[in-house]
Amino acid sequence: MTLQLKQSTGPEFSRILGLGAARGTNVVTNDDVAGPIDSSDEWIQQRTGIITRRRSDADVTVIDLAEEAALKAIAAAGITAQEIDAVILSTVTYFHQTPAGAALVADRIGATPAAAFDISAACAGYSYGIGQADALVRSGTARNVLVIGAEKMSDFIDPTDRSISFLLGDGAGAAVVGPSDTPGIGPTIWGSDGSKAQTIRQTHSWQELRTQPELGWPTLRQEGQTVFKWAAFQMPVVAQQALDAAGVTADDIQVFVPHQANMRIIDQFIKQLKLPDTVVVGRDIADTGNTSAASIPLATDRLLAEGQAKSGDLSLQIGFGAGLVYAAQVVVLP
Ligand SMILES: CC(C)(COP(=O)(O)OP(=O)(O)OC[C@H]1O[C@@H](n2cnc3c(N)ncnc32)[C@H](O)[C@@H]1OP(=O)(O)O)[C@@H](O)C(=O)NCCC(=O)NCCS
Repeated sequence: MTLQLKQSTGPEFSRILGLGAARGTNVVTNDDVAGPIDSSDEWIQQRTGIITRRRSDADVTVIDLAEEAALKAIAAAGITAQEIDAVILSTVTYFHQTPAGAALVADRIGATPAAAFDISAACAGYSYGIGQADALVRSGTARNVLVIGAEKMSDFIDPTDRSISFLLGDGAGAAVVGPSDTPGIGPTIWGSDGSKAQTIRQTHSWQELRTQPELGWPTLRQEGQTVFKWAAFQMPVVAQQALDAAGVTADDIQVFVPHQANMRIIDQFIKQLKLPDTVVVGRDIADTGNTSAASIPLATDRLLAEGQAKSGDLSLQIGFGAGLVYAAQVVVLP
């Protein structure tokens, strides 16, 4: 008789069981950042919708932010840290090449020996993580998965950079994904376009920093107009694909939470997806800034906390950014 390998199988459906958020505690105004880039409060508000951004103190690490959001998400999910089988940390601002930040977070919150790994998918990191968590749960590889998007963007800003630094904030958002009796996470539509890798980038590599220390600490830059066009005109197509794949239309959803990159991009999404006025839209960027992988869970958590969205609502979420990479899915809010 031939030996038949066993494969794991899991529950039919998964969903987000709880969310948690942590924002930088310092409010940084447009006037605070405008001087070195010859900008103004008026220009920044008009072109980006940002009024303030939230940043952390120098001694707060991205792991601290991740831990705070994770503990809140676990409490909201009504489970214990011991019940988490995998921790996924999406971040591009953790200082260590190895070990993964996720393992530290797992240890700090008491989730050991959960599997732990980091995802580098920039502003799409949270949506990448939710797609992974959904697959891990439904395959039976993990029962409960903790997904964290955490960034301390202020560690990679150049106050004299006009292209991206003034947009950025610090924060973390987390979700616990677990088994469900009903469908709670629609198919993830995701992808990449590495031919545009240079459009959002670190100024120079760690290797260049080692051989040319005069270059100084690397920071971020972007080709704003190129990224804007890609985000505003190609990403709505991806968002529509996520709706189609989930078997719903723009009229069926209650909430829309795109990555918080620019208020004008958010408005383009609304127009192109023909979202009805009844859909509540995440606009957390106005006072939190762009927090990369943290922006979607931060904006979603806020809508729930403020009562603008409620448990059971259908929410379309889409992350997009450096890579270039993107991921979108429709989720049922916890
Ligand atoms: C960065 C961004 C806000 C710049 O806005 P923009 O409207 O594209 O600005 P432009 O580059 O077209 O420049 C327009 C004018 O503003 C000026 N300008 C550019 N940046 C400026 C700044 N930070 N402050 C003041 N003026 C600025 C330019 O010099 C230009 O002036 P000119 O008309 O006299 O030549 C915008 O391109 C953007 O949000 N891009 C996408 C960001 C994104 O989605 N990222 C996703 C991944 S995180």
